[in-house]
Amino acid sequence: MIKKIGLGLIVLLAVLQIIPSNKPEVKTNNPDDLLITYAVPEDIGQVLKVSCYDCHSNQTNYPWYSYVAPVSFLVAQDVRKGRKHLNFSEWNSLSKLNKLDKLDDINEAVEGNEMPMGIYTAIHTKAKLTVEQKNRVLSWTDEFGETIFDE
Ligand code: HEC
Repeated sequence: MIKKIGLGLIVLLAVLQIIPSNKPEVKTNNPDDLLITYAVPEDIGQVLKVSCYDCHSNQTNYPWYSYVAPVSFLVAQDVRKGRKHLNFSEWNSLSKLNKLDKLDDINEAVEGNEMPMGIYTAIHTKAKLTVEQKNRVLSWTDEFGETIFDE
């Protein structure tokens, strides 16, 4: 009985691999990237790259298991939605108003511990923000907002 269930699961997993996940593609040339177009403090840039860029930039780092269904479906969906809401690789193509709006959203999402997503930090433990990093990001969104406002 257990053997049959086990075999059934293996067959199911094998069949799932046939369905394409359509993960958003990785682009390495992003002239409008936030970190290229603005002087972002180094520690903030590091936090964004480690904790946000996998879902909020064109430079997603896909680990091997992101190629294995059904994980691949979840990853594809998070990256697609993440980029749609906020894509740091296309930052400078946003209007001034949109930039201010996104900074506000970032502040709220980080303040409320909604971002980075829990399912992500459970695996990428280094992406979990320390209290100090969180506070740095929050004050940076305020300072950067003033810079953008004055442009
Ligand atoms: C595992 C992927 C993933 C990571 C990592 C991640 N996000 Fe997100 N983010 C998402 C998804 C998916 C959404 C869209 C959520 C939805 O549809 O409600 C989102 C939405 C957002 C939004 C928009 C919220 C709104 O109100 O519209 C902001 C801002 C945001 N994330 C900021 C961040 C920041 C800042 C980080 C890093 C500290 C981060 N995210 C890390 C996947 C991610």
